[in-house]
Amino acid sequence: MTARTRTALITGITGQDGGHLAPLLHDKGYEVFGIIRGQSNLKKERLLEEFPYVQLIEADLLDPSSIIRAVDQSDPDEFYNLAAISHVGYSFKNPTLTLDTTARGVLNCLEAIRMTGKVDRIRFYQASTSEMYGGLDYNRPGLGYDESSLFHPRSPYGVSKLFGHWIAKNYRESYGIFASCGILFNHEGERRGVEFVTRKITHAVARIHLGLQDKVELGNLWPKRDWGYAGDYVRGMWQMLQHDEPDDFVLATGEAHSIEDFLSQAFREIGVEDWTPYVTRSQEHIRPAEVDILLGNPSKAETILGWTREVDFAGLVHRMVQHDIADQRSRAAGAPAVAPG
Ligand code: NAP
Ligand code: GDD
Repeated sequence: MTARTRTALITGITGQDGGHLAPLLHDKGYEVFGIIRGQSNLKKERLLEEFPYVQLIEADLLDPSSIIRAVDQSDPDEFYNLAAISHVGYSFKNPTLTLDTTARGVLNCLEAIRMTGKVDRIRFYQASTSEMYGGLDYNRPGLGYDESSLFHPRSPYGVSKLFGHWIAKNYRESYGIFASCGILFNHEGERRGVEFVTRKITHAVARIHLGLQDKVELGNLWPKRDWGYAGDYVRGMWQMLQHDEPDDFVLATGEAHSIEDFLSQAFREIGVEDWTPYVTRSQEHIRPAEVDILLGNPSKAETILGWTREVDFAGLVHRMVQHDIADQRSRAAGAPAVAPG
């Protein structure tokens, strides 16, 4: 008898992490299903071109019956819930939608597992976040937040994610669902949306280098983030679901850099030492409450899961700027976009 091919269901397949996780699972021999929302999602064609092996299911985290149908149809061994309203600034402007998607959506996934009678079969990954810590009570110089640190979310997004985190833990404790939460610090790369600060900067730096743009408009430059590479982090997600028991793990680099640091490093890639003439500031990008610093301590994941990182801060910025230069150059010449690595 041949062994059953392992099957994975991914929500958020059109997002940054979905674009890293789908090929990782495919390379490991999984049958990969992805949930796509909307009756005419513009990302569908590109997704199928890049990942022809992904079987798409039309569903929406806001519609519980559609998630039940997706679980029933794909019958997954592993269920990665990556979908969310994930932009912190946007969550202030759309708080109810954020709550419905990023909080209630997690409950819809967990209930779908229960209602299809697959509690003992499916391993569930919840995309929790360092935004749950909020940075406000940070008084541990040199030491990062870990799995036992206090939470103090500072946005509708962070509050919604905290609900998702606790409801996943609650279903683990109440019903025995194998639900693991990855408390991931910021992770970036060539697939990052341009609405997030790192990609906004590398995209602009590439265009400034090629003479296609003069300046980039930003908000606060002093906040610090613990930035890693998304490819390293999705490997950690998979490792969490291979562990003997469900648990929560921080994935981070253990290094924090300010947005000014990121700007310096990115402009250095194009030979510019003084970035100040190229950056303007706008209230538009300033949030009602800021998260000053997020620094993580990934010791537990390193020790228990054997999780490692391959890309450091300088390597991350290099990779993003060089990708964006190649991509912008190609587009400017009327050639196709350069595929993310
Ligand atoms: P992302 O690029 O913003 O992707 C979000 C995904 O969610 C997209 O595929 C989006 O679909 C989907 N989505 C939104 N609303 C939906 C709905 N109602 N139904 C179904 N799908 C919906 O996010 P990411 O950076 O890949 O992050 C993945 C997850 O990790 C998110 O939950 C995020 O909050 C969390 N996280 C991210 C980081 C980070 O630094 N990247 C750190 C910690 C935690 P469309 O393409 O159709 O909009
Ligand atoms: N997006 C954006 N755009 N942020 C800016 C800008 C700008 O023009 N200018 C300054 N910033 C500052 C923000 O105020 C924030 O302090 C920092 O840059 C990082 O913002 P984002 O890149 O939007 O990321 P984030 O840290 O708020 O949230 C990301 O990381 C979380 C994990 O800590 C998202 O990926 C979340 O989904 C994720 O949970």
